[in-house]
Amino acid sequence: MRVNGSFPVTLQDCKALDLLATTVCMLDQDGMIRWVNNAGQSLLKRSSRSLEGMAAKNLFEDDQAFEHAFEAILHGEFSSFGLMGSLIQNQGQEKLLVSATLQRLEQQAWSVILEVREIEQHTLAERNERLIKELEIHQETFRNLGHEVKNPLGGLRGAAQLLEMELSDPALQEYTRVIIAEADRLQELVDRLIRPGQSNLSLSLINIHEVCERVHALLKAEYREQITIVRDYDASVPDMKADMAKLLQAYLNIGRNAAQSLLSGNLKNKPCITLRTRVLNRHLLLNRMHRLVVVVSVIDNGPGVPEALHDRVFHPLVTGRPDGTGLGLSLAQEYVRQHGGLIEFDSVPGRTEFRILLPLDAT
Ligand SMILES: Nc1ncnc2c1ncn2[C@@H]1O[C@H](COP(=O)(O)OP(=O)(O)OP(=O)(O)O)[C@@H](O)[C@H]1O
Ligand SMILES: [Mg+2]
Repeated sequence: MRVNGSFPVTLQDCKALDLLATTVCMLDQDGMIRWVNNAGQSLLKRSSRSLEGMAAKNLFEDDQAFEHAFEAILHGEFSSFGLMGSLIQNQGQEKLLVSATLQRLEQQAWSVILEVREIEQHTLAERNERLIKELEIHQETFRNLGHEVKNPLGGLRGAAQLLEMELSDPALQEYTRVIIAEADRLQELVDRLIRPGQSNLSLSLINIHEVCERVHALLKAEYREQITIVRDYDASVPDMKADMAKLLQAYLNIGRNAAQSLLSGNLKNKPCITLRTRVLNRHLLLNRMHRLVVVVSVIDNGPGVPEALHDRVFHPLVTGRPDGTGLGLSLAQEYVRQHGGLIEFDSVPGRTEFRILLPLDAT
């Protein structure tokens, strides 16, 4: 059976959909659920009668992300759209991590088909593990390269200084100054490449909102006129032991990226950044189950991470900006990882979210 394209979805097909183990919902053009299969009713722990007629976005914890995806599908920006998030089960009493796919239906009774699959925790763990392994290899390579470059660079700079002292013609000294200045610039880059290797954390009891407030103040100072910054905090996030300076640097790097991308091109909407905090219960992070995980997000309405960079944004020296060094995210990921956490992102034109996930306690 084909559900996208030109074949109409018939009642007969719906009976076949009832045999599937995955959740399928048919949505109308307002995003209302018009039909849900048996698997959907058991996953959501609700009857078809209570589900039909309700807005599909209300099935998801992040209703805005869903709404955004739905609009993109409805307006033909994409023919299919995948997103990951928490599904609200049992009328709000339970939550489940799922991946959802939206597909546009053409010339049919329903506008969009929504398919929902539970994400097995081990699939997520495997994905995270792969990402971390990849990063470790890259960081190791760049760190080694950095060390290799450091010594000859020092020699080069020293020789230029000696040469400068020998030169009597001040016009020639201009050249040695260029050598010294460029060597210094390269040295700074190398230092940034090598720095993440130092994993000693200076821990203190902090509230994550202190970090958010500092980032808010810094972004406001830098981009006051150009960008609206919204704060959406979950006041119930408990205090945690962390390295304030490193978390601040990580969050600021993400915040600055958002601001830079907002100011990089023509936007349909007014540039806006949301700083958001949430708490997740029982979440698997880097192969460990945590009772509480805090999620600190930066959401922007900019053009999104270039498609070609999606698999590589956290790798060192990967940049999409003409004046970028491509170290901001790899450093941020390293600092968050030193706290046992992880940075993830979702990005489509108009909505990009980078999330720092930090364990609050291990179980
Ligand atoms: N919020 C965002 N929206 C769009 N693209 C983004 C966003 N965040 C990151 N990117 C993309 O990811 C790339 C890598 O980001 P990263 O912070 O690692 O390096 P950079 O910003 O280019 O340089 P720098 O070292 O100065 O931070 C960026 O160049 C940009 O193309
Ligand atoms: Mg950056």
